[in-house]
Order: sequence, then C-alpha cells, then structure tokens
Amino acid sequence: MHEVSLVAFITGATSGIGEACARRFAEAGWSLVLISRRRERLEALQQELGEQVPVHVAPLDVTDHDAVARTIEALPAPFSAVRVLINSAGLALGKGPAQEAELADWHRMIDTNITGLANVTRLLLPRLIATGSGATVINIGSIAGHTPYPGGHIYGATKAFVEQFSYNLRCDVSAEGVRVTDLAPGMTESEFTLVRMKGDASVVDDYYRGTQALQPHDVAEQALHIAELPPHISITRLEVAPLCQQWSPFTVLRNDA
Ligand SMILES: NC(=O)c1ccc[n+]([C@@H]2O[C@H](COP(=O)([O-])OP(=O)(O)OC[C@H]3O[C@@H](n4cnc5c(N)ncnc54)[C@H](OP(=O)(O)O)[C@@H]3O)[C@@H](O)[C@H]2O)c1
Repeated sequence: MHEVSLVAFITGATSGIGEACARRFAEAGWSLVLISRRRERLEALQQELGEQVPVHVAPLDVTDHDAVARTIEALPAPFSAVRVLINSAGLALGKGPAQEAELADWHRMIDTNITGLANVTRLLLPRLIATGSGATVINIGSIAGHTPYPGGHIYGATKAFVEQFSYNLRCDVSAEGVRVTDLAPGMTESEFTLVRMKGDASVVDDYYRGTQALQPHDVAEQALHIAELPPHISITRLEVAPLCQQWSPFTVLRNDA
C-alpha cells in the first residue's frame, strides 16, 4: 500500500460530486476515506483509485448515527488524521408542489441532508480539530438554499440549513484552525435528477436537454481548491453555477387572467 498522505473523508462517494471529489483528490495525491451505501460501487472505486493512493471504504447510511460512530471510531490509524471532510451525501425527492408531496420524501430529505450531515460532522470534528491548521469541512449546499422555486420546498430548506450550519460551525471551530465552507453548486449533471424523479429517465433527458450543465468534476475542482488554500484563507461560501442557469423575474399572480 502507498504511504498515507493528507486524508480526505468524503460522503456520497459512489456518484456525482462525491465520486468526482474522490477522483480529483486522488489525482492530487490525497488519501481517501469513502462513505456511501452502495458497497459494490465503493469497492470498485477502492480497487481503481487504490492504484494511485491509499483508500479506505465504509458502506453505510449517514442517517444511521451508530454506524457512523462505529466507522469513525474504527478508522485504521493512518486514515484517522482527517484533514478534509466533504459532506456530499444528499438528495432531493419529487418536484411537484408541496401540497402534493409525499411526507415520507420530506422526512428522507431531512434525515439525509440535515441529520446525516450533522452526524458525520459532529462525530468527525474531534479528528479535524486534532489535525488543526488547514483542516477543512466542505459542506455541499446548493443554490436552492438561497433561491426558492416551485417544487423546491423541503429540499431548498435543507440546503438553507447547510448554509447557516456552516456559518455557525465556523464561529466555533475557526479558533481551532478548522475552516468551514458551504460549497453551493447549481445545476450539475449527475444521478441527482434520476434519484429526484424516482428513476424516470425521460424527465432526466428533458431536464438536461440543450444545456451545458456543470459536471461533477467542475465542482470537485472547486473543492480541491478550497482544501488546498493556505490555512489562513477560509472560503465561507462558494456558489458555482453553469452559465446557462439564470434567475427568473418575480411572477405576479393576477385574478383577471
Ligand atoms: N446535482 C445537482 O444539480 C446538485 C446541485 C446542487 C447541490 N447538489 C448537492 O450535491 C450533493 C451530491 O449530489 P450529486 O449531484 O452528486 O447526486 P448523486 O449523483 O445522486 O450522488 C449522491 C450521493 O449521495 C449518496 N447518498 C445518498 N443518500 C445517502 C445516505 N443516506 N447515506 C450515505 N450516502 C448517501 C449516494 O450514494 P449511495 O446511494 O451509494 O448511498 C451518492 O453517492 C447533494 O448533497 C446534492 O444535494 C446537487
């Protein structure tokens, strides 16, 4: 096995932005701890990226507090000095109006995007603080945390949580040398939309048709930049969107239409 270098702990590593971060950080020589639920994908990544850098994988659901705690507790010594945590595990479910949404979908978004992120962050903080100067938490938020849109309801609200939590966390841990960033992407082409539309690939094709969306590696590039800045520089929030994604003017509902 290669010698363990700087360690990046990445959730949501089996797809999209998390997977792209795993690849980009490996390319830059970082050792990896990769977390997600799908074991086969994690093992395939371990095999592939393990040719470049040391890789430790742990299949788990971030909403399962005990599993997260056990995994962090049992990190093999070379991987325990974590310098960067990237919280990318997350999802949206459904795109219809709030009044037609499945309450179970709301619970799952809250559990994953809020409780899961809180579990991993809180349980890993002692390791990040022990690493000290240069340690960084990169929370993958979203432009949806700032900009409301029809059908955004709970998903956007969970990302508003990610933003405010990132700021509040920074208040507490900056004196320990730990930086915290809300890295907030716009439209990024990944499995995100397939998951959101519950496997309906026709909606996915339509959504990305004629656009030049961000690719996961575009976001990963920003994450690496944030992580490798000199330790006295802290990016509080970085919003990155494809040029094709634009705001809309206010919509006015008229009763004479
Ligand atoms: N794509 C976009 O347009 C976009 C825009 C802004 C923000 N974001 C945010 O970016 C992050 C990554 O999204 P993505 O675009 O990369 O989507 P993606 O391709 O669907 O990847 C999501 C990842 O999260 C993991 N995951 C989901 N639930 C999990 C759980 N309970 N426990 C552990 N891992 C879990 C999935 O792996 P397993 O299924 O193997 O667990 C997968 O690796 C999310 O937080 C999302 O909200 C995405």
